[in-house]
Amino acid sequence: MEKKPTEHFVRNLKLDTRLSGALFAVASIRDGGVSKNGKRYFSIRMGDKTGYRSGTIWLHEGSAQQEAAEVSKLELIKLGDVVRVRCLYEKFNNGWFKIDFAMGHQIDIVPAGGYDPADFLAVSPYDTKTQLKLLNDAIAKMQSEPLRTLCKSFLEDGKFIEQLAKAPGAQTQHHAYQGGLLDHILEVMQLCETCCTFHKDLDRDLLITGAFLHDIGKMRVYEYKESAIVIKDVDSLIGHLTLSHTMVGEKIRVLREKGVDFQEDLEMLLAHLILSHHGEEGGSAVRPKTPEAVALHHADNFDSQVAKEIGRMPDAGQ
Ligand SMILES: [Fe+2]
Ligand SMILES: [Fe+2]
Repeated sequence: MEKKPTEHFVRNLKLDTRLSGALFAVASIRDGGVSKNGKRYFSIRMGDKTGYRSGTIWLHEGSAQQEAAEVSKLELIKLGDVVRVRCLYEKFNNGWFKIDFAMGHQIDIVPAGGYDPADFLAVSPYDTKTQLKLLNDAIAKMQSEPLRTLCKSFLEDGKFIEQLAKAPGAQTQHHAYQGGLLDHILEVMQLCETCCTFHKDLDRDLLITGAFLHDIGKMRVYEYKESAIVIKDVDSLIGHLTLSHTMVGEKIRVLREKGVDFQEDLEMLLAHLILSHHGEEGGSAVRPKTPEAVALHHADNFDSQVAKEIGRMPDAGQ
């Protein structure tokens, strides 16, 4: 089992250096087609527990047979695979990693057991049991019977909790680690709770329910493999706001079948919180139009932006 040398962690990489035998987990790889100068290339994003960076893999020119062999080799690389690369690390238009086969650069899959998963698997700094207790305590304080019943139906769903405990908050931007989604949810809940202490007209139970459930769709968007967070197609095709809304709708339907009186107006207000939580930015179906929706949007944005800055590397962004 190979351990990454400290200088090979993404956070420690120095620009304009040649990497030889560095290990990275692949978060995305796709055939880029042919560039303007006629060269076939693949785009790749790879990294480790300290961050991810994009790059380009340039194929040999001139020999169709060689190009086909290189394409076949690259097509074997799956998301989450750990690869050993020989390449340049420099800042250019399309990223940082430059793998040019004509320059003798290489990329090879490392079989499981050939690397230490701990080098790639970033985990929450908090204890999961303690975090789940905080979540349970916030829900237990709810006065609203239908909202408390809804939240508890998620908390009592063993599969949901098991997945929530492992889910990342994002692939790269913020809370990009195992347990990151739970940390983000709790932070947003605490911000909302604080907001309710001075804006007493806010519906605390509705806002806390929105904070708990606003991002649960991410559990269906991100997959945590042994060595990397990968994004499923459902992210670009449906998005986590709609998925969260669907998951909440599914639970409410089950509760109604069991005789719980979950009023349609309340469901609509909660749906609005979830579907508008990105505010004016991308992803929102509607802009926030209720005080609770405005509060949730800003709490969500506050937490994700601060976390992003704390975790940001000097020249990250692609
Ligand atoms: Fe979100
Ligand atoms: Fe969020």
